[in-house]
Amino acid sequence: MAKKPIITQFFITIFLLHTLKPIQSQPFSRKLSRNSFGLQKEKLTHLHFYFHDIVTGHHPTAVKVAAPGTNASRSFFGLVMMMDDPLTLTPEPGSKIVGRAQGIYASADLKELGFLMVLNYCFTEGKYNGSTLSILGRNAALMPMREMPVVGGSGLFRFARGYAQAKTHSIDFKTGNAVVEYDVFVLHY
Ligand SMILES: *[C@@H]1O[C@H](CO)[C@@H](O)[C@H](O)[C@H]1NC(C)=O
Ligand SMILES: *[C@@H]1O[C@H](CO)[C@@H](O)[C@H](O)[C@H]1NC(C)=O
Repeated sequence: MAKKPIITQFFITIFLLHTLKPIQSQPFSRKLSRNSFGLQKEKLTHLHFYFHDIVTGHHPTAVKVAAPGTNASRSFFGLVMMMDDPLTLTPEPGSKIVGRAQGIYASADLKELGFLMVLNYCFTEGKYNGSTLSILGRNAALMPMREMPVVGGSGLFRFARGYAQAKTHSIDFKTGNAVVEYDVFVLHY
């Protein structure tokens, strides 16, 4: 390739200098009024759906990513699973999908079955399409009812807080596949 004449390089340099935006100095923090941000009144929303944890079969939606080095613990302590589990309107696996539960569940209790749940509900239905809720909590999976905090959200669920209640709808002990009913109560704007 031919070397550009020095005069061309000069004009390219001048052009680039002109297109660079001056660095604007912004304060590190500032106070905003809630109203200017559209945060007038909090709403309380109830979401109801079924969570399908499919660990075996041709298309598992939860896979083991780490396992303890021994089988000594009856609670599978140390087991780490990554999930992208469908959330549906009714318990039937083929029913309408309203979102997915994406994240990790890990056995974090030495004695009984108690999972650390770290996940996002990624909704795909109606006005909530694209919005998420973040869950961080303990799931003692054999208890009839478990409760996990909603620690935040995005999209329509910005500033969200609340809790999710889980009840096992059905579990196949042969395959390990489970359907869990969720009621989620969430405050957001
Ligand atoms: C634990 O048990 C599973 C299933 O029986 C087996 O596949 C695995 O090798 C065992 N792991 C250890 C470390 O013994
Ligand atoms: C949800 O949003 C995605 C991306 O914007 C879009 O492709 C999809 O069709 C939407 N789904 C529904 C059910 O509206």
